[in-house]
Amino acid sequence: MRKKIVAGNWKMNNGLNQTTSLINELKELDFYRDVSVMISPAFPFLKTAIDLVNNSSIEVISQNVHQKKQGAYTGEVSVEMLKSIGINKTLIGHSERRVYSNENDTVLLEKVELALSNDLDIIFCFGEELFERKSNNHFQVVKNQLENTVLKLDRHLWRKIVLAYEPIWAIGTGETATPEQAQEMHEFIRKCILESYDKTTSENVSILYGGSIKPSNATEIFSKKDVDGGLIGGASLDAKDFQLIIKANSSL
Ligand code: PGA
Repeated sequence: MRKKIVAGNWKMNNGLNQTTSLINELKELDFYRDVSVMISPAFPFLKTAIDLVNNSSIEVISQNVHQKKQGAYTGEVSVEMLKSIGINKTLIGHSERRVYSNENDTVLLEKVELALSNDLDIIFCFGEELFERKSNNHFQVVKNQLENTVLKLDRHLWRKIVLAYEPIWAIGTGETATPEQAQEMHEFIRKCILESYDKTTSENVSILYGGSIKPSNATEIFSKKDVDGGLIGGASLDAKDFQLIIKANSSL
């Protein structure tokens, strides 16, 4: 049985005070037992966030991690550092990291392998650009992104993986993929996994959609059979909106 998930990607937003008050607000809200809720404050506030969510069902995850174990990599944060403060899951491959920090498939595969071999689970993000969709190349682009990275992994590692399909043209733009476009791509992704592994693996992986999800469009997107939840940017910075999006993914 795959999990329903709603994860907030806070990106480079919220200082200490805002991190604290947003978490306190979220803790006051009712969530739904059938949806796993995750938030990802910036690195300096991860430990504070972990302490604050204590006794709640919210999981704190990180937005990124470095591909090397340790050493002379000024400004970077390692898998071991994250594990040492109690982080058990990280985003890898967000399009903003691919674009602004030049993270390519080779680097992303290194990150994925290092994280998973140290029990840091991953939400692996990928998705096509607008010109790739316009030229009808989106399926091939996504297939390549997966084949160069997660589809190289041993089957047994797939229980530590969540996928997040995020078409770049829909991130932070207010433009969302239609529920049909999301479903069609998620179904295709499951087929790629089936071809590389087996039915159990392809059926059990949670695939999130990301890109301008808001309370007004969440229900329709989450109702699609291969969409197991969402990775939420802008709307996760507002406790009420985030709660409504979580509610949209619940069957309770
Ligand atoms: P958005 O961001 O919801 O603001 O479009 C999604 C993401 O980047 O994960």
